[in-house]
Amino acid sequence: MTSGTLLRAARPVALIVGASSGIGEALARHLAKEGYAVALVARRIELLRKLAAEINQGHTDPIAFPFPHDTTHYAEIPALFQQISQQAPGLELVVYAAGIMPTLAPDEFDFTKDQSIIEINLLGAIAWLNEAAKRFSQTKRGTIVGIGSVAGDRGRRGNTVYAASKAALDTYLESLRNRLAPHDVHVLTVKPGPVRTPMTAHLKNQPFILEPHQAAMRIAKSIHARRNIVYVPGIWRPIMWIIRQIPSFLFRKMSF
Ligand SMILES: NC(=O)c1ccc[n+]([C@@H]2O[C@H](COP(=O)([O-])OP(=O)(O)OC[C@H]3O[C@@H](n4cnc5c(N)ncnc54)[C@H](OP(=O)(O)O)[C@@H]3O)[C@@H](O)[C@H]2O)c1
Repeated sequence: MTSGTLLRAARPVALIVGASSGIGEALARHLAKEGYAVALVARRIELLRKLAAEINQGHTDPIAFPFPHDTTHYAEIPALFQQISQQAPGLELVVYAAGIMPTLAPDEFDFTKDQSIIEINLLGAIAWLNEAAKRFSQTKRGTIVGIGSVAGDRGRRGNTVYAASKAALDTYLESLRNRLAPHDVHVLTVKPGPVRTPMTAHLKNQPFILEPHQAAMRIAKSIHARRNIVYVPGIWRPIMWIIRQIPSFLFRKMSF
């Protein structure tokens, strides 16, 4: 990719970290259909290239651009963000969709897994979204999106550190929203319930499950409506409200 390529696209630009699969991939497709140019970031470059080629079909000038990157390589992030934003003065949306949810046996306490979850789901998000915050607080515009989870609303017995990573992300995004409000920068926290992606392919009995394109459509609507927090689908808002009211001594007896 050459300098100025994104610029020639003359469209609003969305940068999506975690665009090679699942929700991030679906959001890239959806936003491109809406008229965005998309900068696609993840580790699996072949998947990103394939996605970019599909999105670029039928366009004279390309509108999708792959950038291979591992979000735990934090030191690379400022330079990569600069590279993308210099080539894309139209950058107005940054989405952090990268995440992992390793399986955890009921009696398993594995620090190596826990560390990776925090590094990718939380520290990677902070490293990327801090860069977006810096830029948008100067340009006085822009939208930052973090993909959290309903799992962050309560400490269930299942996936301890995954839930903790999403709870911390939720609080980080709230704080970022408050800090950036005077600059007119919009921060959206997305809390999906189950979505049919490679991350959840092994799970059974997933209530109110959405296809990735359905989740992407709801997320895009919430971006345009400048919502602060959106549950995807919306039914999870009252469900999680009820779940949050359950006293600890009862909640700990529940098996889910
Ligand atoms: N699916 C659900 O039911 C569900 C529900 C609630 C919340 N979420 C959240 O939604 C987000 C997207 O999940 P998904 O379901 O779409 O999962 P997915 O299909 O497994 O996609 C995960 C994405 O994260 C990227 N990623 C993982 N580790 C990375 C790293 N070290 N560096 C850069 N990118 C990395 C992957 O790209 P590479 O592997 O190519 O790097 C991939 O693009 C996650 O934050 C997840 O926690 C999902």
